[in-house]
Amino acid sequence: MKIKVASPSITQSDVEALNESLLSGHLTSGPRVREFEQAFADYIGVKEAVAVNSGTASLHAPLAAKGIGFGDEVIVPALTFFATVSSVIHQGAVPVFCDISMENFSLCPEDLERRITPRTKAIIVVHYFGHSAEMTEIMAIAKHHNLSVIEDCAQSHGTTYKGQMTGSIGEFGSFSMFATKHMTTCEGGMITTNDPELADYMRCFRSHGLKGRNDHVMVGYNYRMPDPLAALGSSQLTRLDQMNAGRIAASEKVINAIRDIEWLSVPMVPDHVKHTYFWCHILIDEEKLGMSTQTLIGRLSEQGVECRNRYEEPLYKQPLLTTDLPEILKISAGNHLPDYGNLNLKNSERVAGSIIGLPNRPDLSDDEIQRINEVLRSL
Ligand SMILES: Cc1ncc(COP(=O)(O)O)c(C=O)c1O
Repeated sequence: MKIKVASPSITQSDVEALNESLLSGHLTSGPRVREFEQAFADYIGVKEAVAVNSGTASLHAPLAAKGIGFGDEVIVPALTFFATVSSVIHQGAVPVFCDISMENFSLCPEDLERRITPRTKAIIVVHYFGHSAEMTEIMAIAKHHNLSVIEDCAQSHGTTYKGQMTGSIGEFGSFSMFATKHMTTCEGGMITTNDPELADYMRCFRSHGLKGRNDHVMVGYNYRMPDPLAALGSSQLTRLDQMNAGRIAASEKVINAIRDIEWLSVPMVPDHVKHTYFWCHILIDEEKLGMSTQTLIGRLSEQGVECRNRYEEPLYKQPLLTTDLPEILKISAGNHLPDYGNLNLKNSERVAGSIIGLPNRPDLSDDEIQRINEVLRSL
């Protein structure tokens, strides 16, 4: 028996919404996109939502809307998916890495202060694994230095911090709707903001920079979401809370069963955070366990327990930032090119490669949870 880690939830009503839109004749962006944007803005509790065709586009467009470009620095966590960084480079700006906090694996507010220079224009905060960053502290630092905050919520749809949805706290929220996320449009993204002017800019940016039919007022992109995928998104959104409740219940059961195992740490969740468990993440102490995380994953797989494992190294170790630097980055940074190759951020180094995500499918059975527990204890 193989215990699957997760699988997308697609229901008959999702299929019907998709089919209805396909047969309506609106195949590109149209009424279903506008409906999805309105429903998503209402769900997150912001004035505006702008649908795009990937989470990466939903990071790129806010940077463009803020006029961030050559020579500007954007602070990013050292441990995240590369799109958080590549969107900064696409915009011709310079990523500056910040360490993560051991409490929630998101940006560490103390380290953040140290990374700010006169060239810093924005901070991208990633809410990792469904947890939330400490937004009160991060927003206070951003306000003090007049910096824009983009919340990368690719892994935190429905997560709340002090009662507020992630994606409604910073100047922008950026969501991915990739197949494995809390909700999906197969591929897709959404940007949230309370600023209608920035939303207008991003609507133009996502559609070739077009105003009307002929006037290209900026060098935009084709980042549009097609109507059928937006119809699927609206249908998924109606079930997001229910799907999250299933993830949370399954994750909490797994965590409660294994929390006393001495070679692992389960997530620390303060009362002011509603964690939505994109992953049921545990941090491995390889020394105590007596094997590497990669060996552990192999052993779990042999015993039928599937798990997730990403971000084996802090991103500043990617060859693209050490030996094969993109030309655009060299030109943009000029004399201020960070020495990525010599960075050594303590928490990021500790955590990289040592987190695994255990199965947390909403339909995980009690027998499966018992089996996961037994296998972990047998190692
Ligand atoms: C933290 C983070 N940011 C950005 C992205 C990019 O999203 P997409 O794959 O939809 O472009 C992802 C996707 O996995 C992600 O996990």
